[in-house]
Amino acid sequence: MVFGALTKHLVRLAVPYITLEDAKERHSKRKHLASQFDFAAIRRDWDAGNISHECKNWLDLMIMTEAGTPVYTAMLTALEDANRPEFESFRRFVLEVWNREEEEHGECAIELAKAMRMDFDPESVRDKADWAKGYFDACPPCKRVLGTTVYTVIQEEMTYHSHRAYAECSGSAELARMGQTIAAEERYHSYFYASRLRDVLAVVQKDGMSEDEAFATVVEVIERFQMPTKFHSKAYARLINPEKGLQAMHYFKKQKGAIKRQLGPIFAAAGGWKLVRAVVNARTVIGNYSEADAAEYASAPS
Ligand SMILES: [Fe+2]
Ligand SMILES: [Fe+2]
Repeated sequence: MVFGALTKHLVRLAVPYITLEDAKERHSKRKHLASQFDFAAIRRDWDAGNISHECKNWLDLMIMTEAGTPVYTAMLTALEDANRPEFESFRRFVLEVWNREEEEHGECAIELAKAMRMDFDPESVRDKADWAKGYFDACPPCKRVLGTTVYTVIQEEMTYHSHRAYAECSGSAELARMGQTIAAEERYHSYFYASRLRDVLAVVQKDGMSEDEAFATVVEVIERFQMPTKFHSKAYARLINPEKGLQAMHYFKKQKGAIKRQLGPIFAAAGGWKLVRAVVNARTVIGNYSEADAAEYASAPS
């Protein structure tokens, strides 16, 4: 108990705590994203064959995910306790900062699809009901702010790695720059939600939820986490095949150490050593990818 409190105290000094005001201030100084990148240069790289097949696989995943970001408001409005005054900074961040920044990631994705002459219809990833159903079916604890906050901390961290992944193998300096820039913003988002996780854990325990139950919820969300997700089911069926799913899974597995080093202190800051232990004891930090899942990907029709 004392050790747990001490861990929490020590790592809190190292893990940034971001308030809504911090995020709004950063947002107000931030330049519009899509206008910072030269999509004509990316098109030239694409037409010249410089962008690798591996990179294109990542881009299909990224474009589908980012172009679909306007659906996240559907998630927010469906959370059972999103309107509690205690969760105001979470709700206002989603509505006033996150949606706008993610929408710009989406704009970059759509510009990229055009630059690569891809036949991609953004409407195919804008079905809010389809997305919300997929999300809540995959993660029942995500119906409440606690579950969704945990999910989002991880999802932002994994998105950070996804943007880094195509930047690393892009074969296009401009595309790499775009990937690195967006990745940095994803990590900032992860820190913001991690800060809310600290707050939300305190609120639910004040409500009377035991620490064990709260931490079990965190673990359940981590165990259920999936990436790439099938939440945009129609676009997933069209754009994602076993090769792309396996490529992403292998990359995330390779990054497992880096992901643990990033998320470990975040969970320690939120719940001390006891939460870290609970998370470590969960099947995997990167989600529900067993060998059986790999076999399922490998045998699914493309
Ligand atoms: Fe994003
Ligand atoms: Fe993000």
